[in-house]
Amino acid sequence: MGLVDDIRILEAIVKTPTYRVYGVTSGRLIYRSTSEGASDIWSIDLRTLEKTRLTIGGVHGVAVPSEKSPLVIYTRDVTRGREQHQVFAIDCRGGEERKLADFTPMRIFGMAFDGKRVAFTAASEKEIALYLVKPDGSFEKLYSINTIASVSDLNEKYIVGSGMLRRNPLSSELFIYSFETGEFTVYTPRNGSINKYPKLSDSRMLFETNIWGRNRLAIYDIEEEKLSEAKFSEKDYDNYNPLAHVDYGWTKDSKIWTIGSRDGRSRVFLDGKWISLPAGFVSSVALHDEKLYATHSSLMTPYRVFEVDLEKLESRVIIDNRLPENIERRFGKAYFIKYKSFDGLEIPAYVAESNIASKPGPTIVYVHGGPWAEVADYWSVMIASLVALGYHVVAPNFRGSTGYGEEFRLMDIGDPGGGDLEDVVHARKWAVELGIASKVAIMGYSYGGYMTLLATGRYPDIWQCGVAGASVIDWEEMYGLSDALFKQFIDVLFAGRRELWKERSPITYVENVNVPLCIIHPQNDSRTPLKPVLKYISKLLKLGRTFEAHIVPDIGHAIVTVEDMFKILLPAIIFLRKYLK
Ligand code: 4NP
Repeated sequence: MGLVDDIRILEAIVKTPTYRVYGVTSGRLIYRSTSEGASDIWSIDLRTLEKTRLTIGGVHGVAVPSEKSPLVIYTRDVTRGREQHQVFAIDCRGGEERKLADFTPMRIFGMAFDGKRVAFTAASEKEIALYLVKPDGSFEKLYSINTIASVSDLNEKYIVGSGMLRRNPLSSELFIYSFETGEFTVYTPRNGSINKYPKLSDSRMLFETNIWGRNRLAIYDIEEEKLSEAKFSEKDYDNYNPLAHVDYGWTKDSKIWTIGSRDGRSRVFLDGKWISLPAGFVSSVALHDEKLYATHSSLMTPYRVFEVDLEKLESRVIIDNRLPENIERRFGKAYFIKYKSFDGLEIPAYVAESNIASKPGPTIVYVHGGPWAEVADYWSVMIASLVALGYHVVAPNFRGSTGYGEEFRLMDIGDPGGGDLEDVVHARKWAVELGIASKVAIMGYSYGGYMTLLATGRYPDIWQCGVAGASVIDWEEMYGLSDALFKQFIDVLFAGRRELWKERSPITYVENVNVPLCIIHPQNDSRTPLKPVLKYISKLLKLGRTFEAHIVPDIGHAIVTVEDMFKILLPAIIFLRKYLK
């Protein structure tokens, strides 16, 4: 197997399309896919299964469609990766895209559409605010929120959302904007609790809350000011006892559907009844006319779209996705494990073994981004590429990861690069002790790139090499380069403890790094800016360390095209072939 073969395998995996469904309107399922080279919006006619591509070149956010309108609403980055967005609309049956309103592009990060109006939250250089676009294209700032909070739904009466409205990094409240009174109010069932992503049904909000200990779904009636726990006719949901909710919503007849997750796998429930799909992860769902549409994947099987007949309880694949057999054969088993970290805390992780690596063999500790995210049993281009190319992958869900309840998620607040870094280091230890890993590299993107450089700087003797994409280098410098949203993000993550910035920045330990590094960075990244990375690179050069650096031109933090994903991963696999194998 030569390098050219590796590149062909990488190409096949990067080209494997991803799917996400949003909803149904005008007899069409609206979904998103990378099947034609960029993350674009498509619709599929549910009668004929004919697909129509709606956008070209990749989009950023997509609003859940409304059955009252054939329009699909979405945002695009209009600044080559700097994540300054505008809002667009297109008819789901095809046609020309049009810009919905004229405003200076902003970072838009939460959007809803009720068939007439579009509400969204956005950050500019200076402020975070709630905005509304009306059918005539008029654009209005409704409220200056100035804390991290995002819209999750709207109807004729209200816009609702959630975020750190009390400016407490350990809590999250709901907000309600009333069209009738123009008032913006904050609601929490209990001070200090975590409440997220309200979804409206008339004047009731369905949301996730931790007030009963673990994450549960609650309903709050805005007009009657009444809170209750969501109850279901069937018991499957309660028996499953999820740790987190991937998504949820109301059906037309006011029943509740939800995707619950546990230990990196998820299941769909409709009014408490489990709608059975293969083991793995259901990541998005749309309901329409006694049919449920869902995207499903696992670490070893790419995304497919299922249709479930809710009366007959039969399912079929309406969009299939198969890997070439010569690649499928390279995948070994993927499984969930827990290991103990330095302080005895149990850290959940996924292991994905390669069939073409020996055991113990070359292994990569893959560190996810976020940090409020997880590696679950779902398709990951990065993990699949590494496994297919002959590396075992161990992906820790270090403290601060989502999917395991709020107590676990909040454990990195006030301590980023502290306990979470130790968890990552202990993943390596575990993989060696269990006979999976011989040589071990560390790799990650964004917060994962940050962990990679911090780990190779603070524990230089335990890694064979490191691959760091879109990394955080220096918290102080990054803060100065951030917009209103990311300034607050950093303050929340550190719980205001700026005295930790230096100690927790990879630049502080650059002199300790003595293993080969592969640094990859988007040129126009506005979340983890390039400027501090260039400083880090010039220090490595001065120190005479082995490293390579790849600046990917004209792209930003979010990777939206297949070609850009290839540009990010290609240097990594060439590097790992030399320094890990
Ligand atoms: P992510 O990137 O891992 O893709 O979410 C990050 C961007 C910014 C920060 C952390 C992670 N930050 O703290 O500002």
